[in-house]
This record gives sequence, C-alpha cells and structure tokens, in this order.
Amino acid sequence: MHPTLNIAIKAARKAGDIILRYHNQIDLLTIENKAANDFVSEVDKAAEDAIIDELKYAFPDHSILGEENGEILGDDRFQWIIDPLDGTTNYLHGFPQYSVSIALYIDNEARHAVVYDPFKEELFTASKGDGAYLNEQRIRMTSTRGFENTLIGTGFPFKAPQHLDAYLDMFKAIHPQVSGIRRAGSAALDLAWLAAGRMDGFWEIELNIWDIAAGALIVKEAGGYIGDFSGRDKYLETGNVVAGNEAVFKAILKTIHPHLTADLQR
Ligand code: IPD
Ligand code: CA
Ligand code: CA
Repeated sequence: MHPTLNIAIKAARKAGDIILRYHNQIDLLTIENKAANDFVSEVDKAAEDAIIDELKYAFPDHSILGEENGEILGDDRFQWIIDPLDGTTNYLHGFPQYSVSIALYIDNEARHAVVYDPFKEELFTASKGDGAYLNEQRIRMTSTRGFENTLIGTGFPFKAPQHLDAYLDMFKAIHPQVSGIRRAGSAALDLAWLAAGRMDGFWEIELNIWDIAAGALIVKEAGGYIGDFSGRDKYLETGNVVAGNEAVFKAILKTIHPHLTADLQR
C-alpha cells in the first residue's frame, strides 16, 4: 500500500473514532444550521480538525480543502479534499449510514482516496492505477448490461429545491426501468457501495466537491464510469454526477437528458 494512502487511512480512522464516540450521545451535541436543511455538529468539526492535524503533520506543505474549515493554503499541486462526516443528517438521527471521505489530488488528478464507514468498520480505498479495495479485498463494479434488474442509488436535491421538479422527472423516467432506487444519505458512501457492486448506478444533482472527490476515484479504480450530466468530466465543478458500470452510466445519461433544465446542462 502506498505510504500516502496509509496516512489518509490513519486520518480517516481518527475521525471515525470521534464520530463513534458520540454516536449514541447525539442529544448532548451542539448542532448548528449552516443553511436550510444543512446541519453541522461539533463532531463534524472535531473530526475535520483531527484529519487536518494528521495530514499537516505528515505533509506540512500540502493544501487542504475541508468542508468545515475551508481552504488551508499550501503547495497547490497537492490538494487534499475532506468531508469529515458525510451523512450528517443520518448521523444526527442515529441512522447508521455515514462516512469519512478523504482524497488527495496531485496536479488536479485524483491519486489516493479513502471512504470510511466507522459504524460498519468498512474501509474503501483506492490509489490511481492500483484498483479499489474494501477492507483490503479487491472490489469491482457490477457488469449488468442495461437497466434491467439493477439497483440505482441517488440523492434528493433537498439543499437545492429549485431542481426538485427536474429531479422528479428524472426519477419518474428511471424508476419503471430498474429494480429499485435507494436514497441512503451519504454520497461518498453511495459511490463506494457502487464500486463494491452493491448498486449498479448512481445520480445526484449539485453535490459538493468533498462529497465526490474520494468516491469518484474508488468508482474508476473499480472499473466504473463517472461523469457530469453531459457524460464529460466536469462533475467536480458542477456537482452533477452520474456514475455506474458502462451500460448503466450510459442508460442514466440517456434517460435524464430530456429532463435537464438549462441550469443542469453542464
Ligand atoms: C450530504 C450527503 C447526502 C447528499 C447531500 C450532501 P453532508 O453531505 O452526501 O447524501 O445528498 O447533498 O450534502 O452534508 O452530510 O456532509
Ligand atoms: Ca457531504
Ligand atoms: Ca459533511
């Protein structure tokens, strides 16, 4: 395993310990509203601080972008992208589907990724060119040939309600063609589960870069496809994501295309 990935795993496990320490004492936490339906607790902040400490100790010159602390400037060739707790709403309700997401981009290319589910003790990792792993076992995407018999993941645009009508039109178009659609509530973990073959495809509108940065590499290293709503690679910028094995990726793109508003055609 690459030593840089090891540092990222160590940081993710430290954050995971903080998250688990409080998971059955949620009543004691101070919770703030960052925006409508966007919550942050002291656990999100403490977990991010622990990750930053670990990364800064190992790589004092690197830049870090964290959901809670924003940018820490450094050598911008080396960019860490962190979501210390992806699935905060689940966490605050005791719904055990949340993760720590850490990625390193070098010269704007994803190199190392960790998505860690501390509750289920599932560690998803990838390094560019080395494949994707769950608890050190190689994982691969499914090989379904279209929508038939597939399970598709998604997220609702509850932070961007202006897209709800377009989203529901996409949902109505996909729903009759597949076996099921799941909204589990942690986009980073959705992508990791997709890479592990637990789902066949995924789409979501307006995610943040820290929701996607690690999961995207894990999907690609498991043999999957990920793109924006035009199928191109601007998903980190737009936050609009389609992912899947090759056939399902194409099927989702084709099916949502007629429902893209001008705003979403990017
Ligand atoms: C959220 C989760 C969720 C997605 C939201 C994200 P957070 O992240 O990834 O699945 O639907 O758009 O903001 O706020 O829990 O870190
Ligand atoms: Ca997130
Ligand atoms: Ca978060």
